[in-house]
Amino acid sequence: LALSAAHASPGVHAVYGAQDVPGQNMIGHVLKDEPLFPDSEIMFYGQPLAMILAEDESIAEAAAKLVILEAEELPPVFSIEEAERLKQWYIPERKIARGDVDDALNKARYTIHGQSYTGGQEHFYMESQRTRAILTDHDLIHLLCATQSTMEVQEIAARVLGIPAHRIAVEVPRLGGAFGGKERSATIWAVMAALGAFLSGRPVQVMLTRDEDMRVTGKRHPFLSNWKIGFDEDGKIKAWDIELMCNGGAYVDLSVAILERAMFHADNCYHIPNVRIKGRACRTNLPPNTAFRGFGGPQGIFTIESALGQIAKKLNKDPLELRKLNCYQNGDITPYGQKISETSALKMLEQVAEAADYQKLIHEVHDFNSKHEHHKQGLGIMPVKFGISFTTALMNQGSALIWVYIDGSLSVSTGGVEMGQELNSKVALIVQRVLGLSYDKIRVESSHTQRTGNASPTAASTGSDINGNAARIAAEKIRKSLSEIARIMLQERYEIDSEELIFADDKVFAQAEPDKSIAFPELVRRAHQERTPLGAYGYYATPDLYFDRDLGQGNPFHYFVYGAAIARVQLGLLSGEHEILSTHIVHENAQSLHPDIDMGQVVGAFIQSVGWCTMEELVIDTKGRYLSANPSTYKIPGVRDLPRDLRVTLQPSKSAQASILGSKAVGEPPFMYGMAVFFALQNAIQSVKPEAELSFPATPEAIIRALN
Ligand code: MTE
Ligand code: HPA
Ligand code: MOS
Repeated sequence: LALSAAHASPGVHAVYGAQDVPGQNMIGHVLKDEPLFPDSEIMFYGQPLAMILAEDESIAEAAAKLVILEAEELPPVFSIEEAERLKQWYIPERKIARGDVDDALNKARYTIHGQSYTGGQEHFYMESQRTRAILTDHDLIHLLCATQSTMEVQEIAARVLGIPAHRIAVEVPRLGGAFGGKERSATIWAVMAALGAFLSGRPVQVMLTRDEDMRVTGKRHPFLSNWKIGFDEDGKIKAWDIELMCNGGAYVDLSVAILERAMFHADNCYHIPNVRIKGRACRTNLPPNTAFRGFGGPQGIFTIESALGQIAKKLNKDPLELRKLNCYQNGDITPYGQKISETSALKMLEQVAEAADYQKLIHEVHDFNSKHEHHKQGLGIMPVKFGISFTTALMNQGSALIWVYIDGSLSVSTGGVEMGQELNSKVALIVQRVLGLSYDKIRVESSHTQRTGNASPTAASTGSDINGNAARIAAEKIRKSLSEIARIMLQERYEIDSEELIFADDKVFAQAEPDKSIAFPELVRRAHQERTPLGAYGYYATPDLYFDRDLGQGNPFHYFVYGAAIARVQLGLLSGEHEILSTHIVHENAQSLHPDIDMGQVVGAFIQSVGWCTMEELVIDTKGRYLSANPSTYKIPGVRDLPRDLRVTLQPSKSAQASILGSKAVGEPPFMYGMAVFFALQNAIQSVKPEAELSFPATPEAIIRALN
């Protein structure tokens, strides 16, 4: 790698490569397999080799063209099949099993073998990857960083620079979307900015253009799976034998955890007594694939739903009845040993069938299909059970810090990152409920390592459970100490003696005497006079989580989120074009913190998934370059792609397991509903060609291929 010509060009301040790294040239996290800049082997097309610091971007771009690379080209591996043939896995095969699957397959009345494939997906967050690094006094490097993981960026930047973590402050004011694409993929850019500032002594900004971002960052993992399913004449499933393989890209990144979550969701909502789930994560020469909403869950669920589709076809059984027959009941045990309690899988299916008027739909679709030659309609059903918690138990912890200021206003910091999911609104609502303050008295601060250290990524849909609970605990501490002062003041002012205090409407009063109250600011000022702490730290760790990887058994999830969707589509047999006529979704979210926010998450996740299943296609050339690099070469859904008729019911419920203030996580589970559209298209195609199998994603081209 010859960098001198680039270095010599006017306006260039510095050029840094692997040899300039003062600490370890290593940004790998789960495994130590990923250098910041490669020093011998370049693993994928678009991998950063060095960085050029210049007055402005155009100078840097021009200088980059002067860099000379001499390299020997080795045969690349891009596909799962090829990586499997070469046994290119990051870690040995993983396995989860229960019962005797071989015996049960032998004894089953019917067996079907199949192979399923799901493709990748570009995150298409609005804000591309970026970090600004500023050196401040006291030898501190302040990173304003677009990451979901402040702790990881801090730790790895410190490792690369060879300095203590306390000299790096990572701050995230908010993100313009992330969807998992900044859980791990933000680190490399953040570390580059930190390195540039550290070595040059100047502020440095690293920021990708849309095209760069799409070409060089990792995506959702494509998955391939081989499976066998055994069942009886009623459709009761006896055995499920599956191997899941994912395309992880050049470095392990989060591939092992994503594979594991896919394995945890290979049962979806169904109780199967004999199960064997194997998983292998493959190394290929593509940008490292990474977290994306659902984190392997959608890929695992897709596989078993494909298998159920084939059972329904084989037995000529109603797809809804087949699913109801196999649904988990309370007391059942999952393949990984977690006991099912509080299941509402069956209830959700029944409710969505009622909401959609399923029998009428079947009749109408049948009627339409018999009358139209060139257009066909189809129905797809998608029940959902999605596990909530990081499957790596230690990540399920978080902290919060609250300051009540002397005027009665309040500032709360958590390790949670706001990325459009309205975490900050939820944190404010929680503090509001505990302290009875009006919303405008509460400010939710940026996520900042100096206020909330060691924060887990805001991911796995646990953001409000973990950070909300930490904020609740901090707020409860404040409430407790303020209550003592309030009792003194109520006594002095009104001669009220009360244990039960109410904090509401910016006041505190005894339950029995709501008219005799103390205003919150008065209370705070008095607390300060009495030398009572007005700050509090809250810490929360999700209880009862464990998983033994060697045994493949444990209790990885705090609870499950349940729901179901029914989609109706229409497609043109000549063009392959299609439209979603209607979608009904029933989504159980316990005691929602804010139904409007949750509704936004359900609808957003649904349409994002419809994009994955039916439009978004990543194309690479023979060198592994992504040709899909912007919305003109990569079709993402727009508002006109929503179903003509979309009905979402948020189903409240009482759940002893639900987390913060009785609510359930909502970020990822609704992503699963989009798959109903894929299966509806499959159903429409099979109405004219029963043996046809639709490939993924269901683009018009794929539909035409399936029909021919
Ligand atoms: N919603 C918006 N608007 N933007 C996002 O980036 N990320 C999703 C989901 N909803 C995302 C989003 C993903 S991948 C996760 S894990 C959760 O939000 C994270 O936030 P939470 O845990 O606070 O729900
Ligand atoms: N979900 C999201 N991110 C994660 C997980 C998970 O289960 N485990 C580690 N990172
Ligand atoms: Mo979400 S994929 O867990 O960031």
